[in-house]
Amino acid sequence: MLGCADIARRRALPALAACASTVTVAVASRSAAKAAAFGAEFGCAAVHGYRALLADDAVEAVYIAVPTGLHAEWAAEALAAGKHVLVEKPMAATAADAAALAERAERAGLVLMENRMFTRHPQHRVVRDAVARGEIGLPRVLSAGMTIPPRPADDIRYRADLGGGALLDVGYYPLHTALLLLGHDVRLDGAVVERDERLGVDLGGALLLSTARGAVAHLTFGIDHHYRAAYELCGTAGAVTAARAYTPPPSAATEVVLERPGGSRRVGIAPFDQFAAVMAEFASAVRGGTRSADHLAGELAVSVRALELLDEARDRAQHRSNAAITPL
Ligand SMILES: NC(=O)c1ccc[n+]([C@@H]2O[C@H](COP(=O)([O-])OP(=O)(O)OC[C@H]3O[C@@H](n4cnc5c(N)ncnc54)[C@H](OP(=O)(O)O)[C@@H]3O)[C@@H](O)[C@H]2O)c1
Repeated sequence: MLGCADIARRRALPALAACASTVTVAVASRSAAKAAAFGAEFGCAAVHGYRALLADDAVEAVYIAVPTGLHAEWAAEALAAGKHVLVEKPMAATAADAAALAERAERAGLVLMENRMFTRHPQHRVVRDAVARGEIGLPRVLSAGMTIPPRPADDIRYRADLGGGALLDVGYYPLHTALLLLGHDVRLDGAVVERDERLGVDLGGALLLSTARGAVAHLTFGIDHHYRAAYELCGTAGAVTAARAYTPPPSAATEVVLERPGGSRRVGIAPFDQFAAVMAEFASAVRGGTRSADHLAGELAVSVRALELLDEARDRAQHRSNAAITPL
C-alpha cells in the first residue's frame, strides 16, 4: 500500500486482511513513524518512502491511496516498476491522465483498476433489474447526490495542488450513477459550481445531464453540507430510490424502494462489504481469474468517460462560480 491514508485504515486494510486471496506485504509512507504504526496495526512490513516499496520484488500489486492529484503520478511509477495497480477513486484528476494510465497498463500487461466500489453493491443490481423489467416505465429523471460535512482545515480536499474539491471527490458518485443507470452516452448540459476563491477549490454544486432518449439527470455534490448519499430514478410509471447508495458500512443492511401508483414495495439487501468485493475482484484479475480483459478494459473506459464529463463540468462551470452563500 502506498500512503497511510484514512480510507486505508478504516476500510481498505481491514478488507485486504479479510480477503482470502490477498496478503498485505508492506505499507509505505512518507513518514517512517507513520508507516511503523500502520505496519504494527496491520501486521506487515513498514517502508519509508513509496519508491522503496516499489523496488521490493515481494510486492506483486499495490493499492494506492494518496491524494487524487497524485494518483496518476504514483500509478504510473508503480506500473513502470511492474506492479499491478488498484488505485483509489477517481483514478486520475483528468481524463487525459486516466487514458494514459490505461494505455500504459495495457502495454505492460498489468492489471489497473479504479476503486469504484459502490457499483459492486447488489442494491444497484436490484435497481437495474427493476428498470430492465419495466417496473418504473421509461426512465425520465435521475436525481442523485453525494454531500458530506466539512472536513478538518488541513484535509486534502481543500488543497488545489493535490486535486482537491467537491466535484472530483464526491461529484464522482452521482456522475457514475448517471453512467450506470442512464448509459454512457449521457451528455453534460450545464454545471454550477460554488468555488472558494481563497482555497482555489470548489465546495459543491450541481450538474445537469441528458440522454438522446430524453432522460435528464440532476446531480448534486458538496463537501460543506449535510451528509447525503442517495438517488432516485423516476420513470413514466413509477420510481425507484436508493437512500444509502454510496458508502454503506459493511455491517449495514440497505433497502431499495419501488413506488408505483398502487403502492410501494421495499426490497431489503443484506449487509455487503463493497470494499472487500473490489479487493477480491482485483486479486482475481491479477491471477487471470474470472474477470476477463474485456471487462477490465470496459471498467477503465467508464472511468475515463466519467473524468471527461468532470473535465467538461470544471471548464464550463468556471465562469459561473463565486456564489456567496448567505441566509435568504
Ligand atoms: N473509495 C472510497 O470510498 C474512498 C473514500 C474516501 C477516500 N477515497 C480516496 O482515497 C484517497 C485518499 O483519501 P483520504 O481521505 O483517505 O486521504 P488522507 O487520509 O489525507 O490520506 C492521503 C494519504 O496520501 C499520502 N500523501 C502523499 N503525498 C501527500 C501530500 N503531498 N499531502 C498529503 N498526503 C499525501 C499520505 O500518506 P503518507 O503520509 O503515509 O505518505 C496521506 O495519508 C483520495 O483519492 C480519495 O478520493 C476513496
